Amino acid sequence: MKLLFVDCCISQRGADSRTRTLADAFLTAFRGKHPDAEAETISQETLLALKPFDAAMLNDRDALASVRAWDAPVFALARQFRAADAIVVAAPFWDLSYPTALRTYIEYISANGLTYHYDEHGCHGDCRASRLVYLTSGGDFEHEDSVGVVHWRQLAAMFGIPQFDYVFAGGLNAAPEKAPELLDAACALAAKLAKA
Ligand SMILES: Cc1cc2nc3c(=O)[nH]c(=O)nc-3n(C[C@H](O)[C@H](O)[C@H](O)COP(=O)(O)O)c2cc1C
Repeated sequence: MKLLFVDCCISQRGADSRTRTLADAFLTAFRGKHPDAEAETISQETLLALKPFDAAMLNDRDALASVRAWDAPVFALARQFRAADAIVVAAPFWDLSYPTALRTYIEYISANGLTYHYDEHGCHGDCRASRLVYLTSGGDFEHEDSVGVVHWRQLAAMFGIPQFDYVFAGGLNAAPEKAPELLDAACALAAKLAKA
């Protein structure tokens, strides 16, 4: 079992990042349930070093895809995403969605012909994972249709990943005195999801 952890917990709180605390709660419980899981982490440094695609980069990638050169470096993140059995994405709630570095990562994993493809019926996913979990923490309370949650739900469907779950640890700045309690509750929910 291969677990892929996409660590986009970019935070001014460093090790006290609340998003990271939430992710740790999930990962600890997941490792308890799957002690043999091989975990691979995409670090914040890797995410932040990704260059968004421009036209020339897209042309180069399309040329490689047209000859099915899937072993090319530009497809490395997509190959890794495609092969994972379970995927955890953790990112803070920024500007009503998530940090740009995570959006750029989505450009790299969305490789037509590798992680998904089209046919006359539309788009079909080609990833192996049975589940994707999105973990986020926000200053405000959770609103319906939170963009990050909706986007990752739709991405999971596009990649053919049947189970999508998320935890939104919300209200952490709205009611600072209640933040530890709210975060604890979110961590408990994440741990429960990891054991499911
Ligand atoms: C750049 C930036 C943008 C943010 N945008 C939002 C926002 O749009 N809505 C919100 O509720 N909180 C927002 N916040 C607050 C964070 O979501 C909140 O403090 C979160 O718990 C941070 O997680 P961390 O402890 O892992 O850094 C923002 C924080 C930062 C630094």
